Amino acid sequence: MRQIKILDTTLRDGEQSPGFTMNLREKLELARQLERLRVDIVEAGFPVTSPEDFQAVQAVAAQLKDCSVTALSRACQEDILTTYEALKGGQSPILHLVMATSDLHMEYKLKMTRQQVLERIAQAVSYARSLCPLVQFSAEDATRSDRQFLLQAYRTAAQAGATTLSVTDTVGYATPNEMEDLVSFVCREIQKEYPVEIAAHCHNDLGMATANSIAAVRGGAGQVEGTINGIGERAGNAALEEVIMGLYTRREDIQAQCRVDTRQLYRTSKLLSTISGIKVPPNKAIVGRNAFAHEAGIHQHGILANPQTYEIITPETVGIYQTQMVLGKHSGKHAFAERIGELGYVMQPHDIDAAFERFKVLADRKKDLTDRDIEALVSDQAYSIPETFSLCSFVINSGTVISATAVVRLQYEGQEYEHVARGEGPIDAAFKAIDRITRTSYRLRNYNIQAVTGGEDALGEVVVKIEKGSRRITGRGLSPDIIEASIRAYLNAINKAIYQLPEEEKPDAPGGQLIKRRE
Ligand code: KIV
Ligand code: ZN
Repeated sequence: MRQIKILDTTLRDGEQSPGFTMNLREKLELARQLERLRVDIVEAGFPVTSPEDFQAVQAVAAQLKDCSVTALSRACQEDILTTYEALKGGQSPILHLVMATSDLHMEYKLKMTRQQVLERIAQAVSYARSLCPLVQFSAEDATRSDRQFLLQAYRTAAQAGATTLSVTDTVGYATPNEMEDLVSFVCREIQKEYPVEIAAHCHNDLGMATANSIAAVRGGAGQVEGTINGIGERAGNAALEEVIMGLYTRREDIQAQCRVDTRQLYRTSKLLSTISGIKVPPNKAIVGRNAFAHEAGIHQHGILANPQTYEIITPETVGIYQTQMVLGKHSGKHAFAERIGELGYVMQPHDIDAAFERFKVLADRKKDLTDRDIEALVSDQAYSIPETFSLCSFVINSGTVISATAVVRLQYEGQEYEHVARGEGPIDAAFKAIDRITRTSYRLRNYNIQAVTGGEDALGEVVVKIEKGSRRITGRGLSPDIIEASIRAYLNAINKAIYQLPEEEKPDAPGGQLIKRRE
C-alpha cells in the first residue's frame, strides 16, 4: 500500500478564517494534539503576517518532535528569510512557498506576466533551498490554471529544488474526476523527471473537498492537506477527519494508508471546538454528535443484531468510547481519573486533582455525570488560567415588569468587591457589573449557550467572545444554572484578557464597592 502524508493546516489556513483566531497558548495546545494524532506535517502559520504569527510558528517548531513543521511564505526573498527564521529551530522544517498560476490571478491580483511568474518561482525556490533542504511549492488556483503553464510552473519549481509540489483547488471549483485527472497528469509528467512529492490542497466551496482529496490520492498524490473540522476560508478546507477515515475505511480499494492514530480524531475535533468556541454540527461526518447515533427503530434493531448493518466505522476507531456507566458524587478520584484516560485526555496529576475538585462541586448539583459532562468539564479545565477575579456570589432580579438587575460579588487579591447593575436582561446586567468591578470595557461579540446533555438537570455550557481593537478572546463557563454559566464564561474571558496583558497594563485597583477583607 502507498503511504500518504497528512499535512494539517488548521493553524494556518484554518486559523485565518473568521472566528478561529487563536492565541499562542491555544495554538501550542492544538499543535501538541496534532502531534498525538500523528499527522506528518503541521502548518503552523504565516509568519510575515504579524509578530504573533511569527512567534507562534517559532514556538510550535521548537515544540514538536514527532512531525515536521511548515509555514507559508509569499515567493519573495524578504518573506522567505523571515519564514525560515521562524521555522529553523524545528525538526526537518519545510518552507512552503505559494505563487498563483491561473491567468485570472496573475492578471488581476499579481499583475504579472506568465514569464515573470516563472522567473519569480525559480528565484524564490532556489533561495528557499539555499536556506532549507525541504521546500514545498504550491501553485495557487492550480485547478483553474492553464495545464501546460501549470506544468511549466511545477517544472521550474522542481528544477530550482522544490521537494513537494502542491496542486491547490483554492476556490473549491474542481470535481473529483477533474482532480484525479489533473493530479495524475502532474504526477506522470513531473515525477518522470524529478523525485518530488505531489500534494493536493482542496477547498470545500462546492462541498467536494473530501471527495477531491481522495480523488487526488487515487491520481497519485502522496500528500493531502486539510484542517480539523474542515475549518478554513469561506466554506473551509478538506476536513481531515473525513479524508483520514475515507482513506482508512476504503484502504483496500484505494490501496493507500496514512500513519495517523484515528483514535485521536474525536479528541482533536473537540479540542478545536473548545478553543474556538465553535461547535461542529451534530450531523457532521465522523465527529458530529449524531455521527454514531441510531434513532430509527429499524436501525436500532439492525445494530443490535449486527453493528455492521448500519455502522461502517466503530465509534472507538475515532476515539468515541461509549460507556454506559455514569459517575456521581460518590465516585472516587481513581474512577474519575480512569474515565478521563478512557476518554483520551492526557492530563498531569495536579490538573486531574483540580478537575476532580470541580467534578465534586458539579456532582453535588447534578445527579449523574455522563461522558459528555466530563468532557465538558475537562475541556473547561484545560483552559483555566490564573484568575485575577473570581466569582464569590451573584443575585439576579428580572421579570416582565421590572428592569433586570444584577448584584455581582467578585474576589480580587483576597478582598471582595460588589457592584449592582441594571441591564437589558439578567445577563447584560451581570456582565455590566463585572465590567465595573474589573474596570474593563470589552465588547461582547458573541454569546452561545448549549446544553451539554439532555435532561432537566443538563449542564449549560456558555461560550462568549469579547473584543477590543484587534484582540479577541474566548471564554467558557459551565454550570447547571445558565446564568451562572454565562457569568463564569464572561469572567473567564476577562481573566484571560487580563492574563495576556503586559504587567504595567494590568488593573491595579478594582471598581465596585469594597465589601470585606477575606481571612
Ligand atoms: O488555498 C490555497 O491556495 C492556499 C495556498 C496559500 C497554499 O491555501
Ligand atoms: Zn487553502
